[in-house]
Amino acid sequence: MGPLVLLLVSLCTFSAASDFRPGSEPLGRSVFVRRSSTDGGAAGIAKRSLAALPNRRVRRSSAEQQEESCRQHQGFKTKLDANTHDYSFNDLSGSVSLAWVGDGTGVILALTTFQVPFFMIRFGQSKLYRSENYGKSFSDVTDLINSTFIRSELGMAIDSENSGKVILTAEVSGSEKPLIFVSKDFGKSFTQRDLPFSPLMQISYNPEDSDVLLALSTSNELWLSQDLGTTWKKIHDMVCLVKWGRKNTIFFSFNKNGSCNDRGLLELKRTTDYGQTTKTVANKVFSFGLGGRFLFASVMTGKGTLRNILVSVDQGESWNTAQLPPVGHEQFYSILAANDDMVFMHVDEPGDTGFGTIYVSDDRGTVYSKSLERHLYTTTGGDTDFTNVTSLRGVFIASILAEDNSVQSVVSFDQGGEWVPLRKPVNTKCDATVLDPDKCSLHIHAAYSIAMKLKVPMLPLSEPNAVGLILAHGSVGDAISVIRSDVYVSDDGGYSWIKALDGPHHYAILDSGGLLVAVEERSSELVNQIKFSTDEGQCWSVYNFTSDPIFFTGLASEPGARSMNVSIWGYREEIFSQYWVSFTIDFRELLTRDCDSNDYVQWLAHSDDISDPQDGCMLGYKEKFLRLKKDSVCWNGRDYKINTQPTPCQCTLDDFLCDFGYYRKENSSKCEEQPDLKDKMLEFCLHGEEEKLITSGYRKIPGDKCEGGTVPEREEVDLRQRCVSDQVTSELQVGGHSSKSAAIVVAVVFVMLLSMAAGIMFVKKYVCGGRFLVHRYSVLQQHVEANATDEIDEPLETEHAQNGKIVFHDDSDEDMLE
Ligand SMILES: *[C@@H]1O[C@H](CO)[C@@H](O)[C@H](O)[C@H]1NC(C)=O
Ligand SMILES: *[C@@H]1O[C@H](CO)[C@@H](O)[C@H](O)[C@H]1NC(C)=O
Ligand SMILES: *[C@@H]1O[C@H](CO)[C@@H](O)[C@H](O)[C@H]1NC(C)=O
Ligand SMILES: *[C@@H]1O[C@H](CO)[C@@H](O)[C@H](O)[C@H]1NC(C)=O
Ligand SMILES: *[C@@H]1O[C@H](CO)[C@@H](O)[C@H](O)[C@H]1NC(C)=O
Ligand SMILES: *[C@@H]1O[C@H](CO)[C@@H](O)[C@H](O)[C@H]1NC(C)=O
Repeated sequence: MGPLVLLLVSLCTFSAASDFRPGSEPLGRSVFVRRSSTDGGAAGIAKRSLAALPNRRVRRSSAEQQEESCRQHQGFKTKLDANTHDYSFNDLSGSVSLAWVGDGTGVILALTTFQVPFFMIRFGQSKLYRSENYGKSFSDVTDLINSTFIRSELGMAIDSENSGKVILTAEVSGSEKPLIFVSKDFGKSFTQRDLPFSPLMQISYNPEDSDVLLALSTSNELWLSQDLGTTWKKIHDMVCLVKWGRKNTIFFSFNKNGSCNDRGLLELKRTTDYGQTTKTVANKVFSFGLGGRFLFASVMTGKGTLRNILVSVDQGESWNTAQLPPVGHEQFYSILAANDDMVFMHVDEPGDTGFGTIYVSDDRGTVYSKSLERHLYTTTGGDTDFTNVTSLRGVFIASILAEDNSVQSVVSFDQGGEWVPLRKPVNTKCDATVLDPDKCSLHIHAAYSIAMKLKVPMLPLSEPNAVGLILAHGSVGDAISVIRSDVYVSDDGGYSWIKALDGPHHYAILDSGGLLVAVEERSSELVNQIKFSTDEGQCWSVYNFTSDPIFFTGLASEPGARSMNVSIWGYREEIFSQYWVSFTIDFRELLTRDCDSNDYVQWLAHSDDISDPQDGCMLGYKEKFLRLKKDSVCWNGRDYKINTQPTPCQCTLDDFLCDFGYYRKENSSKCEEQPDLKDKMLEFCLHGEEEKLITSGYRKIPGDKCEGGTVPEREEVDLRQRCVSDQVTSELQVGGHSSKSAAIVVAVVFVMLLSMAAGIMFVKKYVCGGRFLVHRYSVLQQHVEANATDEIDEPLETEHAQNGKIVFHDDSDEDMLE
């Protein structure tokens, strides 16, 4: 029988950021020439105030004692026994996808699919189950979908407004008409709708009006429906990539000649009236992406195969060149995270190094500061460990690939200004192999470890409503361990950590952080225990949820971390069959009491000492939160709201970044004019807008809300004057300083070398890497396909690792990619 893969699809969140990762086709590894890193156009990019922040806040609560004795829960067994509900599915299918429909409705759809790859076509079968009580019981509603085969990778599309709309896309073979099933009533009933095209990707809802749907067909036609799939109209042919912008805007790239492989020849178009009129907003486009309020397009520079990034903040009406180094054909740009204030952009290093540099933008998206070098981002798998810690403002975790090729974790508490190793958890010992005890720190396992099939069932977990809380797998030493992975918990946004559980676990945050649950991942053993903690992971109680253990595949709880119900999914094996089972535990009875004001304490984020008026400032303001006391055993409730009091801080020079043409000297906060601008200016001068060329050298860090204090006062300089001199230097062939013309020669040679190198890559990729012609539209789909074919002889436990990946890839930006 096909092994079982639990595929959790939580489609309830709409990710505003979208990936943008041109040129990262996962080919078989060709041998690329490794180039030494040249600064190229990036020489003018300085690190943001890095040296000026001498480990400001990393000292936080290092003396914190974890010695309070563990207060174990007593007498929970009978309470939990009475609230554990099991459900057995009469189903042998190979995978289950789960989707929560609505917010707090308790409706779950479970789609099981069984498919066998059979030559080129796939034969499959699906069953649909529906629960109205958070998974405690299900009913088989397969007849609602007419026993059609639903493709799990196109999956169940749930609208982002949580208004109860569901679209299931059917797989059709041969002469049958493509069709979808549409529900408007939280999956209670479905209507069958024929499609005039066969869909290539999941049908996407307009985030601002979920009756409007968009789909790309397998023959690259763009189709739109304004009545939830009843009627469709074709908007455009030869479309390669499409994305919803804001205010009903649709952006798409297309190729006149009909081949999406001719990257760099695409046209970027925009429509604001659902396709009645379209406008070309950029040409020679390689790819495009949206992040926050920014629209990015990577376009060919006209110099060989080099391309660079254009940014628009007005939906493509006007563009500016981003001050980022141009990349060649074998490299890529990627938006790691973005909001309306700023973006984290990864720029791949030339050659197949597996790393690149993270840049953080200013508020215009045009001027960038170097944030982190040697940032791990594999070209082949597209794996990055970059994590926005959503439970504390300004905190991000990433991995670097060290010179010795080891992977090490770093954390930034100030939105990428400075990155430091994670502090060693107090209750851990350093790995015996560590030579230098000063370099002993915590390393976090994330996407890369999962891709490497280490025993890491889940990515780091944080939730905006569970303030300060992070759960993650990790190891302690001088680099990430390929053998150990234990669960670590931070309750202060990543400053301090404790080791919470030995070995790999699946975990979930419930009741806004008031309750944590975890199930140990064991490779072949059966599981019958769940662990839970009401004190942010310091003490854990163990509950046997069944006397008849199951093969465990994953934990499922409603997205948003407000629930008290958690489901343990797995299967049982009998002599000739396997069947799915789920156990849903309602913890409401455990936390009998509602929390009252005595259960909360004041907590100052990013601070050691709440009484110190200078402490806790982050991006110009500090925030006090009311947080649950650790020893309070009570229920936050579904309606729990974060209670925060932001107060502005006084400005210092560190609240500013250096504008284009300025840099900071080591250990100084002052932005000084860059003496060696020359060629690097040129692009900006040619394309920059007038008002953006006038600067005092300082610019507030995006999102920084400081007031008063030191506001840099400096005369504004009109950079256009420098542009003029720059233009002059580039015409210096007609005699001038020999040193200057040497610089030009170097630049030209550099460009030529780069394009030659890129030419070689080009040949290698297109001629040797035959897989390129296979059209690829989503990373998720690839993994699912990989599963479908590799499954047969793979041991189950590796599927679990894959499964963790699928779970999160679904929400991640990667999926929004082409
Ligand atoms: C099921 O399929 C049949 C034949 O294809 C069709 O007539 C019927 O309307 C479908 N039922 C539903 C509920 O979609
Ligand atoms: C289309 O193809 C023609 C000839 O093959 C070529 O000259 C032209 O540049 C191509 N245009 C685009 C937009 O791909
Ligand atoms: C990080 O996540 C938080 C919480 O979801 C969000 O408000 C913020 O905008 C994100 N930051 C970036 C740069 O994406
Ligand atoms: C719980 O299950 C474990 C085996 O997984 C067993 O050793 C233990 O005795 C059980 N505890 C109770 C209270 O039943
Ligand atoms: C848990 O599930 C029950 C229904 O079985 C529901 O009434 C309750 O609201 C759920 N609890 C939470 C906190 O979501
Ligand atoms: C900058 O500060 C660091 C640590 O305080 C010191 O080691 C280094 O020498 C300083 N650099 C300069 C140029 O002053």
